[in-house]
Amino acid sequence: MILPTLLHLWESSTAVQITRTSWPIDDGSNSNHTCLQHPPLRAHTSTLGDLTSTTTNYTILQQPTPRHCGMLQRSWTNVAYLSPIAQELLEWQADCSIPSATFHLDNSFGFGSHLYLFSQALCNAIEMNTRVRTVLVDDAPWLWWDQHHCAQIISDNRHSKSPWDCYFPLAEPSCPISSTSTVNITNPRNPRLRCQRLRNNETAIQEFRAATFEYLFHAVSPLVFEEAKRQIGLLFPNGQAPPDLITVHIRWGDKFWEMDLVPIADYIQAVEQLVASSTDAHIYLATEDPRAAEEFVASAPSYWNIYIDRTLVELTDARPNKGNRASWMTKNTQGRAGLMNVASWLIALEANRFVLTTASNWSRIVNDLRKNVIDPRCGNCTQVIDLRPGLW
Ligand SMILES: *[C@@H]1O[C@H](CO)[C@@H](O)[C@H](O)[C@H]1NC(C)=O
Ligand SMILES: *[C@@H]1O[C@H](CO)[C@@H](O)[C@H](O)[C@H]1NC(C)=O
Ligand SMILES: *[C@@H]1O[C@H](CO)[C@@H](O)[C@H](O)[C@H]1NC(C)=O
Ligand SMILES: *[C@@H]1O[C@H](CO)[C@@H](O)[C@H](O)[C@H]1NC(C)=O
Ligand SMILES: *[C@@H]1O[C@H](CO)[C@@H](O)[C@H](O)[C@H]1NC(C)=O
Ligand SMILES: *[C@@H]1O[C@H](CO)[C@@H](O)[C@H](O)[C@H]1NC(C)=O
Repeated sequence: MILPTLLHLWESSTAVQITRTSWPIDDGSNSNHTCLQHPPLRAHTSTLGDLTSTTTNYTILQQPTPRHCGMLQRSWTNVAYLSPIAQELLEWQADCSIPSATFHLDNSFGFGSHLYLFSQALCNAIEMNTRVRTVLVDDAPWLWWDQHHCAQIISDNRHSKSPWDCYFPLAEPSCPISSTSTVNITNPRNPRLRCQRLRNNETAIQEFRAATFEYLFHAVSPLVFEEAKRQIGLLFPNGQAPPDLITVHIRWGDKFWEMDLVPIADYIQAVEQLVASSTDAHIYLATEDPRAAEEFVASAPSYWNIYIDRTLVELTDARPNKGNRASWMTKNTQGRAGLMNVASWLIALEANRFVLTTASNWSRIVNDLRKNVIDPRCGNCTQVIDLRPGLW
């Protein structure tokens, strides 16, 4: 396998000089030039995608901290404006006079897929005149929790055990126990039980989904910023994303993937279209699939600077080579993959230009945040090429 060599090459080839043009907005969280340090992680090496056969086999993952922590250039705090639907969600969830109802989250599937379920649960809950209270089936830790870093946050805040708390602390503000109820929210997975306002209305679905992510991400926890600054410090030479960054998300991975795989040549062609006639290009390549990264780099013109997702670079040892790899990767790393994943959404959104496949939930979240968070604040400065449109 040639991957380790390539990874090495990519890391050193990113040492180019970048002159920063004026992309503004100092985020309060950036005034502090520290970033996260991860303790060594005993990760399963699960090459079978089946822990039962490898439970005694561990590898120690030591994830690097950069010499200089990076900075995010977009602001995710001090948000002055929310869209009307995001504002509605914020006020609704914070209103302790509204009783809560329970959304039972099953602890499987992708991170993005859980967040879309939360969005639908919110809409169903509003229709039932209740707030959403998410609990995990069998009280297990949420699959996407970083069990080391989130344990501290959750134990500081014993009254609220929402799985979202560690990354999105305002998703389910805690209210006095008296306002909780035992009513269940109608199953958000069931398309026939969708709230009326979204039923058979794609425009309404698009607006509501994008507003959900705007709402969730307008209050991301400091932990996520610390992790994003760590990754940025390792990714980009000057500790900040180049101003002309292009984000490319390649969702390959599972063999049984619902979306037929988009060939690498299509991604390359899309980037070429966005790069147009400039003489250099900076690409943040978000992917969890080593094969996709390898092919993309091999097919890209040599003047492109490609910055590879830290999730891929750092956690490859914990990635099984078959099965639902995203789920196994987070299990194998005690949720570290989850924290790294939220941070990589923020990094993806440092770009103004995007090559996405919105048939994938991960890509669609990037697109939703692009529409509702980035564009309103930069006068619609973004461009996107969507190679596989989709909606959920
Ligand atoms: C900087 O951030 C770290 C980690 O979040 C925190 O512990 C520390 O108190 C902060 N320092 C200042 C000066 O804000
Ligand atoms: C543990 O994993 C390593 C690397 O995958 C492998 O070489 C070794 O044989 C495994 N040991 C056991 C006891 O399964
Ligand atoms: C996206 O998330 C939804 C909700 O969890 C899920 O039903 C769907 O299968 C996911 N889509 C893909 C392509 O994984
Ligand atoms: C709510 O859902 C849970 C999990 O599916 C189930 O065990 C419980 O009986 C339901 N409660 C009510 C009141 O329907
Ligand atoms: C669909 O939703 C949009 C946006 O909420 C709304 O303006 C429109 O009237 C709805 N269409 C139908 C047919 O209900
Ligand atoms: C950006 O696009 C939105 C939606 O198309 C539009 O309502 C808004 O006026 C545009 N803003 C600017 C500054 O062009």
